[in-house]
Amino acid sequence: MASTPANITWHEGHVSRSERAQLLKQTGLTVWFTGLSASGKSTIASALEQHLLHRGVNAYRLDGDNIRFGLNKNLGFSPEDRAENIRRIAEVSLLFADSGTVAITSFISPYRADRDSARKLHADAGIPFVEVYADVPVSVAEERDPKGLYKKARAGEIPGFTGVSAPYEEPERPEVHIRTDRTTIAEAVQQIAAFLEARKLIF
Ligand SMILES: Nc1ncnc2c1ncn2[C@@H]1O[C@H](COP(=O)(O)OP(=O)(O)OP(=O)(O)O)[C@@H](O)[C@H]1O
Ligand SMILES: [Mg+2]
Repeated sequence: MASTPANITWHEGHVSRSERAQLLKQTGLTVWFTGLSASGKSTIASALEQHLLHRGVNAYRLDGDNIRFGLNKNLGFSPEDRAENIRRIAEVSLLFADSGTVAITSFISPYRADRDSARKLHADAGIPFVEVYADVPVSVAEERDPKGLYKKARAGEIPGFTGVSAPYEEPERPEVHIRTDRTTIAEAVQQIAAFLEARKLIF
C-alpha cells in the first residue's frame, strides 16, 4: 500500500492545473489501451498520437515494449512484475497528463485490479482516465501474430503468455470499446477522437 514516506514534503508549484491548461490550450489526460497481444494497441495508439499532434494537441505514447527497454527493463512477466510494470506506467502517465499532455499507454495490462489501480490513481488526482479496450478474439490475434509470439507461446517457449497460458480479464466498463477485427485503424482513431471531443477533453 502507498504510504507517505517519512521526512518528505510535497512541494507545490506556482502554476495551477487550470492555469496550465489555459496557457497550453489543452487538457492533460491518459488514454489507457488494454487488450491481448496483437489486438492492435500499439498500432492504434500510434495512429491516435499522429492524429492528435496533427490537430495541434500534444500527445505522447508510452508503449509496453518500449518501456521495457528502459524504465522497466528489470521486470519480467510474473503477476507481481506485471503489477509493478503497470504501477510504474500509471505513475508515469499521470505525470505526463499532469504536465498537460495526452499520455497514451499501450500495455496488455491483463489484470482488472491493476487497471483499476491506474484509474484510481488518476481519479484521486482529478485527471481524466480513458480506458480503451482493443478487443479481438484470441484466434484473430493469433492469426495476426506480427511478432511471432503466439507461435512461441503455443510451442511452450513463453510461459505465462496472455490469452494462451495466462488470463486476460476483460474490462467491464471501458470508455471506448473497439472490435479491431471489425474496425479499420482510421475508424478506431475516429471513435476515440469522437469520445474525447464529446467529453470536451480535446478541442
Ligand atoms: N483494425 C486494426 N486495428 C489494429 N491493428 C490491426 C487492424 N487490422 C490489422 N491489424 C494488425 O494487427 C497487428 C496489431 O499489432 P500491435 O503490435 O499493434 O498489437 P499490440 O496490441 O500492441 O500487441 P502487443 O501487446 O504484443 O504489443 C498489426 O500487425 C496491425 O497491422
Ligand atoms: Mg504493442
